[in-house]
Amino acid sequence: MNGVSGSAQTALPEGHRLFTIADEPDRWRPLDDLCSSVWPEFMLHSPVAGAHWDLLRTDWPELQFGLLDAGGRVVAAANAAPIAWSGVDADLPIGWDDQFVRSAADLAAGRRCESLGALQIVVANERRGEGLSSVMLAALRGAASGADRRTLIACVRPTEKARYPLMPVEDYAAWLRADGFPHDPWLRVHSRAGARIARPEPRSMTITGTIAEWREWTHLEFPVSGSYVAEGALAPIAIDLGADRGVYYDPNVWMIHEIG
Ligand SMILES: CC(C)(COP(=O)(O)OP(=O)(O)OC[C@H]1O[C@@H](n2cnc3c(N)ncnc32)[C@H](O)[C@@H]1OP(=O)(O)O)[C@@H](O)C(=O)NCCC(=O)NCCS
Repeated sequence: MNGVSGSAQTALPEGHRLFTIADEPDRWRPLDDLCSSVWPEFMLHSPVAGAHWDLLRTDWPELQFGLLDAGGRVVAAANAAPIAWSGVDADLPIGWDDQFVRSAADLAAGRRCESLGALQIVVANERRGEGLSSVMLAALRGAASGADRRTLIACVRPTEKARYPLMPVEDYAAWLRADGFPHDPWLRVHSRAGARIARPEPRSMTITGTIAEWREWTHLEFPVSGSYVAEGALAPIAIDLGADRGVYYDPNVWMIHEIG
């Protein structure tokens, strides 16, 4: 580990190297496969991601990072897109969906983007807990400190909230440890890297499906309409049998990295 260990490390582990899709476009498939493999099934059914994900490959390949291990396997990923954000918290997008929609609209309009919007960081299951998430976050912070950019914004998915699905995200985001850092380990990584919490975002990503789809995605049965807690969900899923519809809002927390 180059003599560096723990979650705050940003040095590359021995034999590993970072790449971007701009330099190595053929690695898009393994990079994307890694990302798909770590999420609960329902998280792969965001209509906004479905509509815009390919822009990452076609229009912003220099902002899609992967980490290769010594054997040439992709073990971590970080995805981002530029966004025209003024720097005022009130102008932050309404969560992850709106962030991605705005990035796509900025691209179409040819707007100058002073900020970089993080979309996800993913570490392979068997490489968790080694501090690789900090390596990938450092890559995004580096990309956000270029000549015409100064800020990395991230609508962060607080990973451990899955254990507290009934707690309002407002309370969860404000939950600090005795040392002043967030209770949530993933918010803590951002915080330790220098980010501040801007605000909680209760409806960051919306996922809607039929009852049959939700049954397939969660392996749950829905005998009556109401709220259901599913594995990997950070909040309950609202099931309406009469409307043949289930709705889930992924709660996130806006964090802002001001960079130099
Ligand atoms: C979130 C994620 C990227 C973190 O990656 P990681 O490389 O395992 O994280 P790190 O090793 O840097 O550890 C980060 C913090 O989590 C803690 N942590 C690691 N594994 C943990 C576990 N199983 N349970 C609780 N905390 C854990 C670490 O102790 C560290 O906190 P601390 O050092 O401040 O105490 C990874 O879990 C992941 O890919 N999750 C699925 C996708 C996701 O949710 N991505 C984030 C939203 S985009």
